[in-house]
Amino acid sequence: MIAIHGRNALYSIALASAVVAAGFSGSAVAGAGGGVQDKIEYCQVCHGETGRGFYGYYAIPRLAGQQPGYIENQLRDYASGLRHNSVMGGVARGVSPATYGAIAAHFHAMNPAPLGGGGGNVALGREIFANGLPESNVPACSACHGPDAHGTGQIPRLAGQLPSYLVKTLSNWSPERGHSSAGGLSALMVPTTHNLTAAQIAAVAAYVGGLR
Ligand code: HEC
Ligand code: HEC
Repeated sequence: MIAIHGRNALYSIALASAVVAAGFSGSAVAGAGGGVQDKIEYCQVCHGETGRGFYGYYAIPRLAGQQPGYIENQLRDYASGLRHNSVMGGVARGVSPATYGAIAAHFHAMNPAPLGGGGGNVALGREIFANGLPESNVPACSACHGPDAHGTGQIPRLAGQLPSYLVKTLSNWSPERGHSSAGGLSALMVPTTHNLTAAQIAAVAAYVGGLR
């Protein structure tokens, strides 16, 4: 099996053949040539045809409906290495920053149903999202991410995001994003991620993951 970035151990068999295709078209579009549409198709090989994410060996996040400002920030941070991920680091460095805006606008406009799949306590998750956990210094997520979890500007949409991606992300915040990615915005999430227990993270992930 040929692997993108030589990291085939990371992929399930199911994803592997798709990733081989991504590796080929990726190297074709990553250089000077390739229009925005080619790059979007490259993203969709991993993030799903409708942008709703993909469950492989690990969860690949949903991009559909995501805030364009947030997508652009993440691409910049992956490319510079401020946000650590070996797969997306290579992808983002292979795409011209001049096209980030058009790619982000494309995914923002998509609106497929959520994949769902979280196993946490949805009622507890709804409570944490709406009101936080004052006794543990966890703020209400809705204060920043919006009452419908659609985000705004550089604050991401959480609605419909894959629960296992959210659990991974909230459990590894500091090693993956440090405090300075997205121009310091990621520091806003540090107290939240440190003060939530594993069960509370699973609960809020299951709740927002099911929102449209
Ligand atoms: C080889 C598979 C692969 C390809 C191709 C790929 N991605 Fe990703 N992408 C991932 C993985 C895996 C993650 C999760 C990384 C992490 O946990 O930080 C991710 C994460 C992201 C994120 C962060 C999402 C969030 O909610 O924080 C953005 C934005 C993103 N990708 C955009 C793109 C764009 C735009 C393209 C096409 C130019 C693309 N990706 C192509 C695998 C891929
Ligand atoms: C003070 C504002 C604020 C509050 C309150 C807040 N967030 Fe965030 N959150 C942000 C910002 C800003 C980002 C984007 C950080 C970046 O770009 O690195 C973010 C990012 C995230 C991400 C990453 C999304 C992705 O696609 O990778 C998750 C998950 C998240 N927040 C969950 C939560 C949860 C759950 C709560 C409530 C327990 C919460 N947030 C409360 C501001 C906030």
